[in-house]
Amino acid sequence: MELTNHKILIVGASSGIGQATAIDLAKKGAKLVLIARSEDKLKEVLESCEGSGHSYFAVDVKNEKELDDAISSSVKDTGEPFSGFVYSAGQEGTIPLKFVKSDFLTNILQVNTIPALLITKILQKKGNFSSEGGSIIFISSVMGNLGQPAKAAYCMSKGGLVAASKALALELASKKIRVNCISPGMVTTEMSSKILDSISEENIKEIKKMHPLGIGEVEDVVSGITFLISDKSKWITGIDLLIDGGYSAQ
Ligand SMILES: NC(=O)c1ccc[n+]([C@@H]2O[C@H](COP(=O)([O-])OP(=O)(O)OC[C@H]3O[C@@H](n4cnc5c(N)ncnc54)[C@H](OP(=O)(O)O)[C@@H]3O)[C@@H](O)[C@H]2O)c1
Repeated sequence: MELTNHKILIVGASSGIGQATAIDLAKKGAKLVLIARSEDKLKEVLESCEGSGHSYFAVDVKNEKELDDAISSSVKDTGEPFSGFVYSAGQEGTIPLKFVKSDFLTNILQVNTIPALLITKILQKKGNFSSEGGSIIFISSVMGNLGQPAKAAYCMSKGGLVAASKALALELASKKIRVNCISPGMVTTEMSSKILDSISEENIKEIKKMHPLGIGEVEDVVSGITFLISDKSKWITGIDLLIDGGYSAQ
């Protein structure tokens, strides 16, 4: 898949799915702008990306003004609008309902859900996005489709992305901007390792059993992202692509 002439914004690019997405899209010729909080990690990711002209901004996604400044300055400095956006920033959250506080709910939405919409809005400002259209992908989760005890807040944040992407797909279709979600099952990353480190052997066995094809690798998700970013998927919008080793087939 050829991605030259594509300028892609990847938010949550310093590790896991976002990092692997950056490496793959760069290999295919895309020019990248990477965002996350950790400057050191972003630098490392950038150094492992093929090609030239990539850049990064260390920004917390809770800071709308800094997101706007980063996106606008990238467009101004390079004269090139974006043609794609992948929202992979996220945090996990497993708390039984009786311990859930309003701050926790607000915080998980402020990281997992709200910035995806605000960045999509910023990209609609004049000159920020290609007039020929492009592709936007929100990384949701099987948990945006299905439930699990103690996951109500995380499920809410991920289900919100799926619902919002469908509405945005309709709102932005006239600009030829496609908006889709990808909902992974468990794949090996920093986030999933933290989960697996904090639970019993018995629970780990249960999680593995829920994935008929076994726990996935980031590359399994990245191949879906690369396809949905590319023009090969030019007639696909408003879908939620489940890449979950069979988790949701049960
Ligand atoms: N791994 C899985 O099994 C799995 C399954 C289903 C869905 N997902 C979803 O896939 C996405 C990526 O997950 P992952 O496993 O790749 O996780 P990860 O390795 O922990 O990466 C999360 C990314 O989000 C960034 N991030 C977190 N909070 C941020 C903030 N406030 N501001 C800016 N960036 C922030 C992190 O960067 P900094 O820390 O540098 O800010 C990092 O780049 C998440 O949305 C997750 O919910 C993952």
